[in-house]
Amino acid sequence: MSLLRSVSDMHRLSTELRSGGKRIALVPTMGALHDGHLSLIRAAVAKSDVAITSVFVNPTQFGPNDDYDRYPRDLDHDCALAFGAGSNVVFAPTVEEMYPDGPVATVDVGPLGEKLEGKSRPGHFNGVATVVEKLFRITMPHVAFFGQKDAQQVAVIRFLVKSFDLDVEVIPMPIVREADGLAQSSRNMFLTASERAEAPVLYRALRLAAEQLSNGAADPVGIRQEMKEMISATSGVIDYISLADAATLEEITEKQRGQDVLVSLAVRYGKTRLIDNCHVRIP
Ligand code: PAF
Repeated sequence: MSLLRSVSDMHRLSTELRSGGKRIALVPTMGALHDGHLSLIRAAVAKSDVAITSVFVNPTQFGPNDDYDRYPRDLDHDCALAFGAGSNVVFAPTVEEMYPDGPVATVDVGPLGEKLEGKSRPGHFNGVATVVEKLFRITMPHVAFFGQKDAQQVAVIRFLVKSFDLDVEVIPMPIVREADGLAQSSRNMFLTASERAEAPVLYRALRLAAEQLSNGAADPVGIRQEMKEMISATSGVIDYISLADAATLEEITEKQRGQDVLVSLAVRYGKTRLIDNCHVRIP
């Protein structure tokens, strides 16, 4: 088990591992590890010879009103959790290591980063793509794990890999749900008892969309409307409901056989903004 703080140490180790024929897995995180991260780490351990967990609070993906300074940082605790879940290496570079002074090239993911979650977070997905590109170059993984809860992030990383011909397999790990279908999130604890009781409607709305896309008669416009009515019957305030092509995130208006559709939504209950999604391949 080792903790590495410098880019050159990490790169040297990965180069050695690669030349020794070892299979490397990466779980990129910003620390503050919770059960969701630990399930990614366990999956990475199962699929590799060496599992690296990166812990880096990436300044370039935070907007001016975001909580970069207040973001929780506890490297000792994160290391204990990551190593406890089987990670062999924790790579935790400083900001100066990752972004030395002076101009740097950045990745621009174009319109893909401006839709859905990107609408309220300008520049966020360019920051994510830039740091993930750097982490891939430094750690040289064969495989990298991301949570499917952040579906747009997964689409952005896939686009990055395709655009730059990166030789990394991206594995999205399924959303973990409560018994009533509510997606697990650290934000659920901010819901009042009555909001918590209403919130599983989000999962029911996603299920309805999945059923209609797979077997039903309704078209995407009708499906969005039905989802909207279901959610509006609760106190939830809809930010967006989207039925989009899973790769481009362009909204779909008709069903196309074989198309991979991302159904996603963001809804506010009181002060708590919840996101959720599911994938459907149209038969
Ligand atoms: O999902 C996250 O925690 C971050 O966006 C990531 C992928 C580690 C990049 O900073």
